[in-house]
Amino acid sequence: MSFIADRMDHIDASGIRKAFALAATLENPINLSIGQPDYDVDEAVKLTAIQAIQDGHNSYTQTWGLEALREACSEYYDQRFGVPLNNVMVTAGVSGGLFLALLATVNPDDEVLFADPYFVMYKHLVNVLGGKSVPIDTYPHFKLTPEALEAAITEKSKLLIVNSPSNPTGVSLSQEEMSALAAVARKHNLLVLTDEIYEQLTYDGEPATMVGQYDNVILLNGFSKMAAMTGWRVGFAAGPEDVIQSMNTLQQYTFVCAPSMAQHAAITALKMDHSEKTNAYREKRDLAYDILSEKFVVTRPNGAFYIFPQAPNGDGEAFVSQAIKIGSRGGVELGAVEAHVPTPEGLKLQVEHVPALGGHRRFPRGTYQRMVRMQ
Ligand SMILES: Cc1ncc(COP(=O)(O)O)c(C=O)c1O
Repeated sequence: MSFIADRMDHIDASGIRKAFALAATLENPINLSIGQPDYDVDEAVKLTAIQAIQDGHNSYTQTWGLEALREACSEYYDQRFGVPLNNVMVTAGVSGGLFLALLATVNPDDEVLFADPYFVMYKHLVNVLGGKSVPIDTYPHFKLTPEALEAAITEKSKLLIVNSPSNPTGVSLSQEEMSALAAVARKHNLLVLTDEIYEQLTYDGEPATMVGQYDNVILLNGFSKMAAMTGWRVGFAAGPEDVIQSMNTLQQYTFVCAPSMAQHAAITALKMDHSEKTNAYREKRDLAYDILSEKFVVTRPNGAFYIFPQAPNGDGEAFVSQAIKIGSRGGVELGAVEAHVPTPEGLKLQVEHVPALGGHRRFPRGTYQRMVRMQ
């Protein structure tokens, strides 16, 4: 008899594991799958954390987080979007916030809607809680439209997850497009969970938010992308009082609190200007798109740091295997590329590594030709 709970049957990590196992056969593969910014944590943020440790801020904080950080989060949204946040709590990254939000709201058989392609955590967390994931096809433009959302809603629909700019496509919604989705959510009394972790990495036009568009919105944002604090595990949530209160109750019995010194440092990160990082990524986006669009069917991303070309022959897994094999024979080391499941299968690449493949602004001719050969 297995000791493993039945709910684990609802989680499948095999696709990614296969790619990682294949990449383990390569020497120094470039990992294009994981969402790690290519800049380091800012010096001022590091110094704040060191100071916090030395000043003795090493114990538990309140479950909902440091008052100063909660206030700074609300001010940040007020300054950036003209909407202060209500009921802010600090979470252990956006992942921690996602887990608490879904645990607090999803009942068995509740339907949870989100755009397909999607960030891989959504489906697995919903399913492990006994909910039903309802991915909504957004190919080929990758934008969830009010019409597609309407068509997917049933009497069991409870929650809509919006992720803009999106992992894995890099496509973001305008404020009007967000408002149009909020209107559908209002009409059908859906709860909306908005994952705005890439909101600072918006390249064309103004960044947009779901906050203030509708009352029943849970906001998640954090410091992993804007400030490269992926290992520091700090994010924030805000939204309806009863939902945030329930998330707090759950946090007491799970994460307890986000790391204390990281919370102090996050206040510094929130008050810094990160536009140079965004500008650098905009250039890489342009470069990656220019090169890939010559040979691949690819939508131009306008946010985050991903690009999602269509896998040639519509088989992402086969393409990844072939890329890794060519890499191991001395060709371009594409490394472990996370292949997302939708049809036709796409391929998520992080634009930051593109210059690293060639070492300068464009791929050297030989490198590029080897890459083309993978088709
Ligand atoms: C869309 C999205 N949401 C949430 C996360 C998790 O971020 P965190 O490090 O804050 O847990 C990621 C990380 O890649 C992401 O891409």
